[in-house]
Amino acid sequence: MSKSHFSDIQNQYNSLYASKEVIFGDGKPIESVVKLNKHLDGGTVLDIGGGEGRNALYLAKQGFEVSVSDLSKVGIEKINSAAKEGGLNIDTHVTDTITEGIDGTYNSIVISFMLHHVLECDAEKLIAETQKHTYKNGVHVVATFMNNGDLYERNKTSGRFYPSEEQIKELYASWNIKDFSTYETTTHARNKDGERMKNHVMELIAVKSE
Ligand SMILES: C[S@@+](CC[C@H](N)C(=O)[O-])C[C@H]1O[C@@H](n2cnc3c(N)ncnc32)[C@H](O)[C@@H]1O
Repeated sequence: MSKSHFSDIQNQYNSLYASKEVIFGDGKPIESVVKLNKHLDGGTVLDIGGGEGRNALYLAKQGFEVSVSDLSKVGIEKINSAAKEGGLNIDTHVTDTITEGIDGTYNSIVISFMLHHVLECDAEKLIAETQKHTYKNGVHVVATFMNNGDLYERNKTSGRFYPSEEQIKELYASWNIKDFSTYETTTHARNKDGERMKNHVMELIAVKSE
């Protein structure tokens, strides 16, 4: 995927996050992130494409040692000031994870609504890389738009990652899938009539068993 694609995404999110409002999920963490402590007793978490930090801030409050990477400097600055205000310590990086890769090994990695920006081959490589950068018995939380809905229909020729349930389960075939759910959500994107697009989402929690 070209550098200009990522600078478009970076610009898009920098202007979106410039709003005082929290953009995604009213700042609430996704369900699977809330369930993480059922599967992991503390430790380190890397949140890739962490946005304005709804998941990272929640996990830091739960006592996890959290690192966040995101393309958007504005998103990362918002996380830094929320962490400071809440007396939390979060390690933040403005990074393009696709071209720069992952540093370190973690007890948990979270990827929440980032993979649809990435080409299918890059998303598969990223998931394989995150799996290598996770300790044994570590836990992954992945939430992503699936190949079912308005957003998928609009982007299906883009080559970006909108997996089927089978495809994502195949990528985690050597892991122990503890929780898997799908649901329809209203996305941030709008159609030509200005209405918010709907799309199906999958959330997965998987444990590295080997
Ligand atoms: C839809 S937002 C989701 C933000 C957050 N994870 C959440 O669930 O609220 C997608 C985020 O992925 C980030 N992103 C997209 N491509 C990225 C890349 N190659 N490296 C790092 N972050 C990326 C964007 O900057 C944006 O903040």
